Amino acid sequence: FSVKELVESVSLTSLPSNYIFGNTESNRHCLLMEPEETVPIIDFSLLTSHDPHQRSKTITQLGNACLNWGFFMVINHGVAETLRDEMVRETESFFDLRGEEKKQYAGKKLFDPIRCGTSFNANVDKTLLWRDYLKIHVHPHFNAPAKPSGFSKVLQEYCEKTREMASELLRGISESLGLEERYINEKLGVESSESHQLFVANMYPPCPQPELAMGLPPHSDHGLLTILMQNGIQGLQVMHKGKWVLINPLPNSFLVNTGDHMEILTNGKYKSVLHRAVVNNKATRISIGTAHGPPLDTLVSPAKELVADDAGQAYLGITYRNYLELQQSKSLSGKSCLDRLR
Ligand code: SIN
Ligand code: FE2
Repeated sequence: FSVKELVESVSLTSLPSNYIFGNTESNRHCLLMEPEETVPIIDFSLLTSHDPHQRSKTITQLGNACLNWGFFMVINHGVAETLRDEMVRETESFFDLRGEEKKQYAGKKLFDPIRCGTSFNANVDKTLLWRDYLKIHVHPHFNAPAKPSGFSKVLQEYCEKTREMASELLRGISESLGLEERYINEKLGVESSESHQLFVANMYPPCPQPELAMGLPPHSDHGLLTILMQNGIQGLQVMHKGKWVLINPLPNSFLVNTGDHMEILTNGKYKSVLHRAVVNNKATRISIGTAHGPPLDTLVSPAKELVADDAGQAYLGITYRNYLELQQSKSLSGKSCLDRLR
């Protein structure tokens, strides 16, 4: 069952009890930012600029964003607005397919090429999330559903563009750590033909009692970086200095957050950021993220350049594959997977 089918099949005036998220009032409380605190904005065109001064200034901003937020907006990234719009439209069309046409992707497992479903891990989630998803492994092997007919072409281009963006950001992030610019991409094989990229589309239909439900509970992402965009409807909140900050993206920007593998690699210097998705009672929200990580069988452990001595290694190494399995074996919850490696 999907949330979309649920809201389309019956006229709900209240939230079914299996969607009532515990302690929601305090959970949902979102404090507004202090006026002097704004989400970091990275001008991608300056990061790729041939002017060394502009580039190094931007790398400093990128480092500060990773250090203080684990989250930033990317502007002037060169990805066409038409491509972004098409990706959102094709995603909507996928979710609009008849149940019959999506059935082949339902109930699939973590490493199956394409799977769709609801909540996070609907088999074990005690409270269901107000969220439907489509997940596609798009690299090293590209996969796409046959329908809608335009989906595959748009997805392929979108994923190539975001992969290029991730590599470029990782070059800047390497430098911001005092490492060679190719360090992360090389050490973790991010630019190799085996690097892993997962496409995740989330759909959050209008909810009769949004204050009682949750789209995605507080969590951090696997991988090095997640690149995210949304359909103009707000709902993403990021934890910053102990407060939830509602993200209001600049038009045509991408939202980028550091993932758990960045935290492991940097030995805790750049922490993965906690974030969540809240829902509303007016409009369907769609968010589209790509998670960028190393090849599945790469062992990720803290970079020796960032660890003072053997005793200073803050995380155990783990392959990306095992990490994904660990995360998918239970309900989504905070940074519980990363905590197991400490
Ligand atoms: C996510 O956490 O991966 C998606 C959050 C969102 O819907 O904005
Ligand atoms: Fe996430």
